[in-house]
Amino acid sequence: MGAAGTGLAFAPFVPWGTFLPNPSSAAAEKVPVILPDGSTANVFTFPINHAEVITYPKTGDSVLDEEAFRKWQFIRLPEKFGGDKNEVSSFRAYSMICLHLWCVWKYWPQEGRMRGECPCHGSMYDPVTGTAFAGPASLQAPPSDTLPELNFEADADGNLFVTPPQWGPNKNGVVGYGRFPK
Ligand code: FES
Repeated sequence: MGAAGTGLAFAPFVPWGTFLPNPSSAAAEKVPVILPDGSTANVFTFPINHAEVITYPKTGDSVLDEEAFRKWQFIRLPEKFGGDKNEVSSFRAYSMICLHLWCVWKYWPQEGRMRGECPCHGSMYDPVTGTAFAGPASLQAPPSDTLPELNFEADADGNLFVTPPQWGPNKNGVVGYGRFPK
């Protein structure tokens, strides 16, 4: 009983083995940025200074696809940070897992905010770089002060695609751990 209890107490609650860092779990080819309404994100129509939740990588399994470790804030930057250009440079996608203690943060577009905020202990993230600038995540050493990111391409019609990420701290980052800023 004692041994079994100990095992349960230390059982990880995240399925590391099936997700991180596991390149085979990411698509080998670019995939469209699918918004919650089922449409593909487009540089000509996605609102400036706005964010939606996207899922990456998708598995096709509705339960697995709801894992927080697959959720990303897909952000079009506000105009003052260059988000008015109808091109890839206006967009960001950062893992929604806060690098402090893994709460889920989100982007707040209101004037005076325009940043990512974690509701648990107040970490705040720069939407341009994904680096924490306030709260406990900002006090952590790199790479654990900067959110993992996804990269994009746009086709001739402006539709956005996620290019295949490389899950490593010096590349796209590791979800729940961080990324060395470029
Ligand atoms: S988990 Fe986000 S600030 Fe602590």
